[in-house]
Formats: sequence, structure tokens, C-alpha cells
Amino acid sequence: MTEKDLLYDTILARSFSRNEQKRLGYGAFTASLLFVLTLCTVFKPYLSPLPPIVELQLPVNAGLRMLRITETQEPQASRSSNNTTYGDSENLTIPTDQINITSNATTLQKLISSEDHVRSVFKNTNLPKSRLDSFNSTTNTTISKEQVITDGNKMEKTIKPICKKLARTEICELSGDVRVHGKSATVHAAIAFAFSGNSTWHIKPYARKGDVAAMDRVREWTVKLTQNADFLSRCVRNHSVPAILFSLGGYSMNNFHDFTDIVIPLYTTARRFDGEVQFLVTNRNQPWINKFKEVLRSLSSYDLIYIDEEDETHCFATVVVGLNRHPEYYKELTIDPSYSEYSMSDFRRFLRDAYSLRNAAVKTRKNQLRRRRRPRMLILARGRSRAFTNAGEIARAARRVGFKVVAAEASGDVASFAQTVNSCEVMLGVHGAGLTNMVFLPEKAAVIQILPIGGFEWLAKTDFEEPSKGMDLRYLEYKIAAEESTLLRRYGRDHEVVRDPSAVGRRGWEMFQSVYLVQQNVTVDINRFKPVLVKAFELLQMQSV
Ligand SMILES: *[C@@H]1O[C@H](CO)[C@@H](O)[C@H](O)[C@H]1NC(C)=O
Ligand SMILES: *[C@@H]1O[C@H](CO)[C@@H](O)[C@H](O)[C@H]1NC(C)=O
Ligand SMILES: *[C@@H]1O[C@H](CO)[C@@H](O)[C@H](O)[C@H]1NC(C)=O
Ligand SMILES: *[C@@H]1O[C@H](CO)[C@@H](O)[C@H](O)[C@H]1NC(C)=O
Ligand SMILES: *[C@@H]1O[C@H](CO)[C@@H](O)[C@H](O)[C@H]1NC(C)=O
Ligand SMILES: *[C@@H]1O[C@H](CO)[C@@H](O)[C@H](O)[C@H]1NC(C)=O
Ligand SMILES: *[C@@H]1O[C@H](CO)[C@@H](O)[C@H](O)[C@H]1NC(C)=O
Ligand SMILES: *[C@@H]1O[C@H](CO)[C@@H](O)[C@H](O)[C@H]1NC(C)=O
Ligand SMILES: *[C@@H]1O[C@H](CO)[C@@H](O)[C@H](O)[C@H]1NC(C)=O
Ligand SMILES: *[C@@H]1O[C@H](CO)[C@@H](O)[C@H](O)[C@H]1NC(C)=O
Repeated sequence: MTEKDLLYDTILARSFSRNEQKRLGYGAFTASLLFVLTLCTVFKPYLSPLPPIVELQLPVNAGLRMLRITETQEPQASRSSNNTTYGDSENLTIPTDQINITSNATTLQKLISSEDHVRSVFKNTNLPKSRLDSFNSTTNTTISKEQVITDGNKMEKTIKPICKKLARTEICELSGDVRVHGKSATVHAAIAFAFSGNSTWHIKPYARKGDVAAMDRVREWTVKLTQNADFLSRCVRNHSVPAILFSLGGYSMNNFHDFTDIVIPLYTTARRFDGEVQFLVTNRNQPWINKFKEVLRSLSSYDLIYIDEEDETHCFATVVVGLNRHPEYYKELTIDPSYSEYSMSDFRRFLRDAYSLRNAAVKTRKNQLRRRRRPRMLILARGRSRAFTNAGEIARAARRVGFKVVAAEASGDVASFAQTVNSCEVMLGVHGAGLTNMVFLPEKAAVIQILPIGGFEWLAKTDFEEPSKGMDLRYLEYKIAAEESTLLRRYGRDHEVVRDPSAVGRRGWEMFQSVYLVQQNVTVDINRFKPVLVKAFELLQMQSV
């Protein structure tokens, strides 16, 4: 076989220049010329002359470097500042002090202060259930009470919590005369019903409570409840629809966190309003607004308001401060139906509508035979770290097994990448934020997660394996051997990095991420990996009836 045989079936790419043109057509986003100019500036380095679909020939060991088509997942922040580098979900600025798992709950509370650090330390440990209980309860709730007059007697009937603290979020649902003042970060509410509990709440409206590094990047709001509207500031702008106030700070612009911390919680909070809701955004973040414009447009029919800059008081009859999130501390990318009127299936259906995706479930074999269509496998490329060094070989092996192979790097253009992912039956990628794109896969499709060396089992399970099951996807995993990691070449077999990753991991999250997440690339041993490809192919054939 010659090098020319190493031809990818299709390489999909949408250039930002095309996307720019499309965006200019969207009225809602052209209101401000400054806004568009800012985006052009931000995305300029990624303007690409490539047509939407190109075919490339690759030399044997080119890896996927040549396929670096569009923007990577990395946030813009990581390029302009050294303080907000979070190139992947795990590149975080956090303390490195040792954690003593055997210590008591007070200590746990402290260490949860840097949650992703905990994620690494506990990656091979089952956290004792009792220690989690305190983060899984509703405490300090302010309850509203309806006053009911029966037989001349006043009775109080509990309606629902107004404000509550949950493991991962704090949220107030205010009804009455609610006034929002952006500059002072205050929400004043004259509540229509009597209530009991704390009347002053300090809330950071971002659904990753407990993670200090994330929450440090979230503006704090004060919610003051009263029964008397006399003391409220004068309304300058009256709104006829409810509002939801949430933050685009935290770990935004990391694809994994965009979905698990913002998009999913926003969906479960906003969907019930059926578009008739005003979004109030704190922590201005235009790249995020642009990235998720389809989601925002599908959830709200109104132009969002950057509330931080508003000196005029905005008035509403209902305001939700903060976003819903189920109380299970370590459950990511999921909706727990016992805490929401929506399920993950609803969410995925919503995404398909928002992005005009047609593929709800993988095609049956019958259809495939009729159309002589080979199942498509998407190889998720990564540009900098945890990159495949032999993507060409992987693609060739997959084609021999029977797949049509598509290789692409997750791009900042969610709409076009969603189409690419949705057109595939299998998605293959190394552990990383790009795998979050599984949300766009059709049901019954398969995900293959490749685990680098370093002890990724816990993260892999929490971040992608468990979530994939909640999305009705098949899950396969391939853990590379030391020989398949570029760390072996770099450090040698006897180095602790290769010999005892858990010892390195125990030295703290920063150490773990800088070695195993940043310095590592992957050369898949095709012979060892092939059974996984075969298994994926069989899964797709088997389920077809
Ligand atoms: C990075 O941090 C250093 C101090 O730690 C500072 O002097 C430098 O200006 C920073 N660079 C950027 C791009 O913010
Ligand atoms: C980085 O952020 C921390 C707190 O988040 C701050 O104390 C520090 O001054 C910042 N450093 C730079 C270089 O901006
Ligand atoms: C984050 O990763 C980049 C490389 O991707 C590295 O240069 C940077 O130092 C890391 N930041 C932190 C805080 O570890
Ligand atoms: C962890 O805690 C145990 C008991 O409290 C103590 O004996 C041990 O020295 C601690 N280890 C570290 C590394 O702090
Ligand atoms: C928890 O740990 C702290 C310090 O590690 C200690 O002072 C405190 O007494 C402990 N509390 C309980 C209930 O064990
Ligand atoms: C959290 O609460 C839910 C519902 O009460 C329960 O099903 C779950 O087991 C709890 N989780 C933990 C870790 O206690
Ligand atoms: C409210 O929180 C405080 C401290 O955060 C705690 O002492 C108090 O017991 C809580 N109240 C309830 C009802 O849980
Ligand atoms: C009310 O909540 C605030 C913080 O949200 C807290 O500082 C205060 O102690 C609470 N008051 C009562 C009576 O629980
Ligand atoms: C807003 O509504 C209040 C009464 O609900 C009214 O007093 C006020 O004048 C209105 N403000 C504007 C700007 O329309
Ligand atoms: C990993 O691969 C990427 C893309 O080919 C390359 O830019 C990077 O330098 C490699 N990193 C290491 C540690 O080899």
C-alpha cells in the first residue's frame, strides 16, 4: 500500500469567513457594529481559505497536524492572558497542597474549594458517601407561604422555596415586584407572598458552586427580599416577561464546561418559559454569546441584556437568579429527571432543533444496505496536546474494518461541527473537552474514549462514560499502554511519570495536568486497538433491526 492510499474519506471544515457572512445575516447580532468588530478581531487568526469540504492526502506519519482546519477548543483568554489559561477542562490555576482523604468533613469542604483538584486526587478513590451528604442537601432555604383564608381563619400554606442552596448551585426564583440594578449587582424583590427564612442572599449565578477557581470568575449578586415595595428604587425599564440572571464567567469557553456548567443548566431553567424570557447576563462574554447563539436564540426570543453595565433599574414580575443544577456533586453533562421536568433526551432533541440536525438515531442496517452506506467514524483531532501522532494509520485501520472516516478538529463554530458530529455513527477521541460534542451524536451511536497514561479512569468515567449512557450512546474505551504515549520517549521507562503516575497525580492537580494533559501525545498501537474498532462496528450492526 502506498502513501497515497492514506486518503481520508472526507475532511470537513467550515471556515470562519463563511460563518462570518452567515452571522451578518442574523439581525439580532448586528445591532452593534462594535460587537461585530470585536468578533472579527477575536477570530481573525482563524479565518481560513479552505472550502467547506476538502479532501487531503496525508503522508504516513503526518498525524493530524495537517488537518488543523479551524479553531481549537481553547478559549481566547488563554492566548491573551496568563492568568486565565484553561486550555482544556483541566488546565486550571489552583493550589497544589496535599489533600488528606482520611481527614474530616471540614477539611473536605476546604478541598472542594478547588474541585478539579479534588477530581484528580479522588480519581481512583470512592469518596465516602457520608462526606458528600452535606453537599447534597437543601439548606438555608427561604420558603414562600401563601396566605389562605378559610372559615375566617388565616392559614399559611407553603408554596415553594424562593431561594435555595444546592450542592452545585444557588438559585432564587422571585415573584412579585422585582427590581434589578446592574451596577450595584443587586436584586430587590417585594415578594407577593409571606415568606420565612433568610431575607438577604449572596449569590454567584454559575452552576459550579464549590469550585473556587471557577467561582472566582463569577460576579456576586445580592438578593434582598422584602414584603414592602416602598423602599425599592424607581423602575426605569419595565419588562413584561420574566428574567433569568446568569453568569458567563467561570470556566466558560471550555467546551466541556460550556455544556455542563452553562448550556444544560440554562436549558433546564429557561425551557419552561418557551422563549418568553429575558436573559440578563453577568460577566460579559461575547465570544460565548457568539459560540452559542443558536442555543440562546432557541431559549429566548429577546436580545439579551448585559446587566453589569446597567445603571437603570430594570423591573420584572418574575426573576430567576442563578441556574438549576441537580444536586449530585460529581455528575456531569446530565439532567437528573428527579430534579427537572426535562430529561437528557429532551435536551438532545432541543439541540437537534436548535441546530437543525436531522439524525435522531443511527440508521438501521436495512437502510444502510439499501443505501450502501458505510457507517461513518469521526476521528476527533486535537491540535496541541493529547494529539494523535498516527491519525493516518488509525483512519486506515478504521476503513479496513468498514467505516467511512471523517477527521476534524472541534471548532468554535458549534453549528457546523454539530452537523459533522451528527452525520457520524461513531466518534473517537482522546479524553478532552472535544468529546463533549457527543451531545450531537444520534442516539445509539458509539463513543470511543482513548485514555492517555496518567490515571484518567475516574475523570474518563465521570466526564464522558456516565454522561454517554445518559444520552443513549454506546461507550467503548481504550486505555493506551506506556509504549503508546509520547511521555515514554520523553522521560524513559524508569521515570516516575511513566512508572507511577498516581504518585505524580498525588502531588497535585497542577502537576498532573502539566504532565499528563499538556505534555502527552498518543501513538495508537493499531494491532492492539483494532478489536475496539471491530467491536464498534459490530455494535452498530447488532442493534439494527
Ligand atoms: C503574566 O504574568 C506576569 C506576572 O506573573 C505579568 O508580568 C505578565 O504581564 C503577564 N502576562 C500577561 C500576558 O498577562
Ligand atoms: C491572577 O489571579 C489571581 C486571583 O485570581 C490574582 O491574585 C493575581 O494577581 C492574578 N495574576 C495576574 C498576573 O493577573
Ligand atoms: C496551561 O497550559 C498551558 C499550555 O497549554 C501552559 O502554558 C500554562 O502554563 C498552563 N497554565 C497553568 C496555570 O498551569
Ligand atoms: C492524614 O490524616 C491522618 C489522620 O488524621 C494523619 O495521621 C496523616 O498524617 C495525614 N496525612 C497527611 C499527609 O497529612
Ligand atoms: C476536623 O479537622 C480539623 C483540622 O484538621 C480539626 O481541628 C477538627 O477538630 C476536626 N473535627 C472533627 C469533628 O473531627
Ligand atoms: C443526593 O440526594 C439524592 C436525592 O435525595 C439521593 O438519591 C442521592 O443518593 C444523594 N447522593 C448522595 C451522594 O448522598
Ligand atoms: C444556614 O446556614 C448557616 C451557616 O451557613 C447554618 O449555621 C444554619 O444552620 C443554616 N440554617 C439551616 C436552616 O440550615
Ligand atoms: C443570611 O444569609 C447570609 C448570607 O447569604 C448570611 O451571612 C447570614 O448570616 C444569614 N442570616 C441568617 C439569619 O441565617
Ligand atoms: C413601570 O411600571 C411602574 C408601575 O408598575 C410605573 O410606576 C412606572 O412609571 C413604569 N416605568 C416606566 C418607565 O414605564
Ligand atoms: C503533540 O502534538 C502536537 C500536534 O502535533 C504538537 O504541536 C505538540 O508539540 C506535541 N506535544 C508533544 C509534547 O509532543
